[in-house]
Amino acid sequence: MKLNHPALTLTAGALFANALPSGSSSGSGDHDAPPCRFALKWSQEQVLDHTDDFISDLLYWEGKFHQDGIAYNAENGMSYDGSQIDWVTGEKTEKHSFSAASKEALQIMLYSRTIDGSPEAARFISPGNPKDAPNKVISIMEKKLKTYQRFNETYPGFGGALPWMVTNTVDVSPQDGWTNRVPGLDNGELWWSVYAWIHALEKINQPGYQELAKGWKTWLDVTLENMVKIFHRGEGVVCAVTEIGDQALPVDDPAQTYKCESEAVLNDPYEGELVAYMFHLFGNLSEEDKDALWVAKRPQLVNDEYDMGGVGPITVERGYWFSGHEPWKVLELPFYDVDIIRRVYHNAERARTCNSVVTKVPGLFASVNNITDVETDTIIGYISPAGIPSIANQTEQYLEVITPYASWPTILFDKPVGLAWWRNMVAGKKMQNPYGSTESTRVDGEGVSALLTWDSKVLTVVSIIGGVGDLARERLQADGVYDEFVRIAELSRIRLIIHGVKREYSMVFGDLKGEDIELCLPSVEIPDRGLKDFTQCEA
Ligand SMILES: *[C@@H]1O[C@H](CO)[C@@H](O)[C@H](O)[C@H]1NC(C)=O
Ligand SMILES: *[C@@H]1O[C@H](CO)[C@@H](O)[C@H](O)[C@H]1NC(C)=O
Ligand SMILES: *[C@@H]1O[C@H](CO)[C@@H](O)[C@H](O)[C@H]1NC(C)=O
Ligand SMILES: *[C@@H]1O[C@H](CO)[C@@H](O)[C@H](O)[C@H]1NC(C)=O
Repeated sequence: MKLNHPALTLTAGALFANALPSGSSSGSGDHDAPPCRFALKWSQEQVLDHTDDFISDLLYWEGKFHQDGIAYNAENGMSYDGSQIDWVTGEKTEKHSFSAASKEALQIMLYSRTIDGSPEAARFISPGNPKDAPNKVISIMEKKLKTYQRFNETYPGFGGALPWMVTNTVDVSPQDGWTNRVPGLDNGELWWSVYAWIHALEKINQPGYQELAKGWKTWLDVTLENMVKIFHRGEGVVCAVTEIGDQALPVDDPAQTYKCESEAVLNDPYEGELVAYMFHLFGNLSEEDKDALWVAKRPQLVNDEYDMGGVGPITVERGYWFSGHEPWKVLELPFYDVDIIRRVYHNAERARTCNSVVTKVPGLFASVNNITDVETDTIIGYISPAGIPSIANQTEQYLEVITPYASWPTILFDKPVGLAWWRNMVAGKKMQNPYGSTESTRVDGEGVSALLTWDSKVLTVVSIIGGVGDLARERLQADGVYDEFVRIAELSRIRLIIHGVKREYSMVFGDLKGEDIELCLPSVEIPDRGLKDFTQCEA
């Protein structure tokens, strides 16, 4: 089976013109449509050699998730967490009629790239007519802004921040359990995605874009003014979840109160860090308060070494679980402009990929939904503790379930290798469905999670299109705070590498171990234990 691979010219129109894997229908007007179970038509070697063609197939099918009533609500522009699918056919069944600021962030990153002209984003959004993709997302984002504004009118106590919320009604409201409560981490992800979105809009001379940008900018500015009041308690304390005195009272009402719901604070050096960067750069904090944000994180910034099965030592930043969810922040800010961060995080992917080879696992680990209980047609629960125990803070982990999206941080460094891992996981039984990849699978092939979510599908897509760090970079430069971003990012990591000892930056270089180690490729397959592929997505 030989691919007829044309030289890829990276102009928007030509990129996918000949992106057919072998076996696709051709000759018809629909020559663009790869088969649903396309992964089985691709060998690992073909993915490595013809990565852009493989990406074209991937985007076509992942894009089927992006439909009204599955990924979002066309009436109000809001995301849905996702949807379950039928165990036999793969057709959508029960919708997750709720969402959170983190899903909103993924949606907005995707849309920022879409109006910025990414042909990959356009293929995901509108494969039949890529030119229409920007119009589609603009219309959704107009509705979303109005929905955010209405939410703020009804629940001014949130100050523009978003809780877990019910999104299948025109007016959204806090989900059960989230009345008078709001999480910091997800909102940090949302703020930076809106920051990039505004910039993407402002760059384009199209009717209506500037007005929409202005609306979003007002929303972000007002929201950020409130955020310090809502989440920042001083002395480096940022609430993980803030308890709101009364969500119906305005932020400035004398009777309004905000306090951390528990001892849990947002002092992690992972995703939660996006909040600290926003406060530091735009929170009008005193120098003392700014410093305290980073001091609070120091105990968790630990230099570690991966060394197992003959692979290593590799210098890494210790993970919490070392889940593939943890590096999320690198999609939103230009962290890889900082040499030491890029190199340490590249090392993380050496550890992530090689660990699965050393331990003979057919995929990669990340926090994800557990498999479906077929008897009751329910998802068994969410698995947080999934990563690499030997280089994690939390060493008790559940390592039975792998997920395609755990390949996204690898994809950001090396598309061929990262997508070879993605392919290896979706090649498992039931791991493709009429809406692209399936949430997760057991390592032993005994079960899968018959579910679609933004996290498990779109993190990968956003990684393929490069995140929005470059848009954020331009805007940080325009706002005059880019150098400060680089300075604090660099400083925090130099401390990590050299254990607080003040040394010259050039001396830090020599301290990274394992940079000569190649990323590893999958070496074993998911066993066939008799699960039947979804009937709507058979080979
Ligand atoms: C929220 O509504 C208040 C009025 O209740 C208004 O002053 C504020 O600007 C709004 N905030 C956002 C983020 O739109
Ligand atoms: C910081 O101060 C500037 C200038 O006074 C103001 O425009 C901005 O809204 C303030 N930001 C916050 C987060 O309070
Ligand atoms: C995942 O599901 C299995 C049943 O397949 C169960 O035994 C296990 O405890 C679940 N794991 C977690 C972390 O919830
Ligand atoms: C995990 O993190 C906590 C909080 O920073 C720390 O006290 C603990 O020692 C860490 N444990 C490991 C194994 O890294």
